[in-house]
Amino acid sequence: MAAEEITMKKRLLTKLEDRSACLGIVGLGYVGLPLALEFAKAGFHVIGYDVSDRVVNGLNAGKSHIQDVSSDELAAVVKSGKFEATSDESRLREMDAISIAVPTPLAKTRDPDMTYIIAAADAIARNAHPGLLIVLESTTYPGTTRELMQPKLEAAGLTVGEDVFLAFSPERVDPGNPVWNTKNTPKVVGGITPACTEVASALYASCLSRIVPVSSTETAELVKLLENTFRSVNIGLVNEMQIVCDKLGVNVWEVIDAAATKPFGFMKFTPGPGIGGHCIPLDPHYLAWKMRTLNYKTRFIDLASEINSEMPQLVVERVAQALNIDRKPVNGSRVLVLGVAYKKDIDDMRESPALDVIRMLEEQGAKVDYHDPHVASFREDGHEHHSVDLADAALTSADAVVIITDHSSIDYQRVVDLSRVVVDTRNATAGLVKSADMAIA
Ligand SMILES: NC(=O)c1ccc[n+]([C@@H]2O[C@H](COP(=O)([O-])OP(=O)(O)OC[C@H]3O[C@@H](n4cnc5c(N)ncnc54)[C@H](O)[C@@H]3O)[C@@H](O)[C@H]2O)c1
Repeated sequence: MAAEEITMKKRLLTKLEDRSACLGIVGLGYVGLPLALEFAKAGFHVIGYDVSDRVVNGLNAGKSHIQDVSSDELAAVVKSGKFEATSDESRLREMDAISIAVPTPLAKTRDPDMTYIIAAADAIARNAHPGLLIVLESTTYPGTTRELMQPKLEAAGLTVGEDVFLAFSPERVDPGNPVWNTKNTPKVVGGITPACTEVASALYASCLSRIVPVSSTETAELVKLLENTFRSVNIGLVNEMQIVCDKLGVNVWEVIDAAATKPFGFMKFTPGPGIGGHCIPLDPHYLAWKMRTLNYKTRFIDLASEINSEMPQLVVERVAQALNIDRKPVNGSRVLVLGVAYKKDIDDMRESPALDVIRMLEEQGAKVDYHDPHVASFREDGHEHHSVDLADAALTSADAVVIITDHSSIDYQRVVDLSRVVVDTRNATAGLVKSADMAIA
């Protein structure tokens, strides 16, 4: 073990231990901001770096843009001086450890868009100093940390594992989950060298409940991809089961609920209008892309993606069938979409299947309104959409109501009572029947 490594490692471990380390977060979104707060609450001075002035100014004013972080909680750590946000790149120099949580979207071609990681890594390399720990948290293909991040640090004259420490640790945040949060969700950590794993584990152990060290950055990168591919494939399976059950005239929800009574060997997944969010629709494609470069086709990933992406079209077909019973064409009908966020009780609509459903219905000439208690408005394809009040008239005047997201605050009995017909993609109206005195003529 090089003397340099021992000194740098010891110094950093001591700073983490006595909380004198300055911790940095690059990218203050759904992942970065909750993590910044955990570090601040553990007693560290935390600097958040983000390229968006809007985000930075809002956070310094104590206003949270992330549902899982309350403005009160944020304002308290800003006021105490434990957290500050900046868009000044030179402040990266003050940091002893940096966690990177920048976006990893897909390009139109479904190839990884690495521009955010590259920009963040370049900014860090320009400001890096001996003794610095860098942990990539953004979901990405296996090999990113070693093949893309490490060379940038070494080009800056820093030897990874000796002068600086580099690791990957996947973020597992589940926005809106009342039980599992940044603090109590186990954190997987894999470093370029054992020393990198050790210091990165010490960083997270300072404020998170459980650390799971693994043997390499590639392992840690793959853990995240396995987790999200597992979900994508299982959701694809139940979505196909929904199609199967429709053809057989069987209630898929009854089948799933009964299967879920098996105490072993079965895990419950539910069908829906398609998958959304920043993770499940995208992450498996990072792995598929990587494997294509190695001349291997990831068949499960491709098939699940194919089935899941067909679901919005199936929803539109179900709406058309429902209207047909009333002798109405889609063209000219009023359709009210309930819920546009990609999952219940959150405000995130990235990759939401509601967008596809609305677009396809509008393409067929339907007049579409939406109601979502968490999403006041959104812009898509140059059009501004605004949530309508869920007044009685909104329900009674719709030719069809389609539940895309089953937000808890909606009174589904009222929806059933007042709507002409309901297409329910989430089983939110299970067991509800129209109250006799509310029947619509
Ligand atoms: N949202 C989730 O539920 C979730 C869960 C697990 C993992 N992830 C992964 O975590 C990563 C971040 O996702 P997110 O949802 O927090 O994204 P986000 O869009 O909410 O936040 C990213 C932030 O990074 C900033 N940013 C972009 N480029 C930057 C740069 N070069 N330097 C500094 N800041 C920059 C943006 O302005 C934005 O504020 C992604 O790889 C995602 O796949 C997300």
